[in-house]
Amino acid sequence: MSEQKIKDTVPALLSWYELHARLLPWRQNPTPYRVWISEIMLQQTRIEAVIPHYHAFVTRMPNLRALAEIEETELLKFWEGLGYYSRARNLQKAAKTVLANGKEDLPETYAELLKLPGIGEYTAGAVASICFNECVPAVDGNVLRVLARLTGDDTDVLSPEGKKKFTALAKRLVPRDAAGKFNQAVMELGETVCLPNTAPKCEKCPFSEVCVAHRKGSAAELPVRKKAKKRKIELRTVLVLKTNETPARFLIHKRPQKGLLANLFEYPNVDGTLTEEKTQAFLANMGVKVNALHELETAKHVFTHIEWHMSGYFAIIETPKALPDGYCLATKEEMAQRYAIPSAFRAFTKFINSKL
Ligand code: ADE
Repeated sequence: MSEQKIKDTVPALLSWYELHARLLPWRQNPTPYRVWISEIMLQQTRIEAVIPHYHAFVTRMPNLRALAEIEETELLKFWEGLGYYSRARNLQKAAKTVLANGKEDLPETYAELLKLPGIGEYTAGAVASICFNECVPAVDGNVLRVLARLTGDDTDVLSPEGKKKFTALAKRLVPRDAAGKFNQAVMELGETVCLPNTAPKCEKCPFSEVCVAHRKGSAAELPVRKKAKKRKIELRTVLVLKTNETPARFLIHKRPQKGLLANLFEYPNVDGTLTEEKTQAFLANMGVKVNALHELETAKHVFTHIEWHMSGYFAIIETPKALPDGYCLATKEEMAQRYAIPSAFRAFTKFINSKL
């Protein structure tokens, strides 16, 4: 009968939320556009990283039309550092789709939202419930953790069975007259009280008396998530190449239109861990003249399915007369303002900004 007890405690959760909801920028003027942007940014990204990006994004692109019309290079610059760049591309695709349908605003129902690129069940549920009070759940990782603990259910939350089960439970719990508030309250609880691993602050939780995991002392073991597959390790050699001009410029390269980090900019880099001789040969082949190569500290970047283990060299180059396709030279200022260079290269960007 624990589900009934959970249901009976929902009003206490809503009161808790009224008192404890954080003042977040998208909560102050929760238009569908702003909520959508925030929900997409918040997937896979910590709230502290999202806030400054969110402000800059909605200032430059205050509505769907501005988002649809911005050039992709500039759009990606606004996403720099957030990762999962296909989210930004899908935002623009969705904005263009809405305009192509003759509308200026997002659709107002869960079913219609779900048809747009990049909008899945979670985002459609969040926008439809928060902005239009549609009685639908919005189940993200926080909600899965809260529900698995409340019910003491050790079904793998990432398995199809787990997702189905916990989504169905969330659906039964959403109150008809406060769907948006309920969804936000459960997420807020997951982010600030029902924290992962051994960190839950059960003494602050409005559900503590009805929570199975709290009673059994099993919160630290829940939710159960099957271990992800091992990531593939790729070795790369990254080259920081600076011209001997004032102001100095750096050689950067636009990645291909498809695949990992598509259309973003990068420092020239090559498959494998190259020796100095191999690196010299690679540069000669590109028509880039260098004297000494200086070895850089190694760096690692973890993507969802791949890890890059990077070594690197720094060199001063003669300004090339011509550059191969996709390459260009940019000053530090241009790199900071115009070109999105993803966090995967953070160690090298840091080297440039602090040492060069
Ligand atoms: N995390 C992601 N979206 C959220 C929301 N709408 N409220 C609270 N936390 C969130």
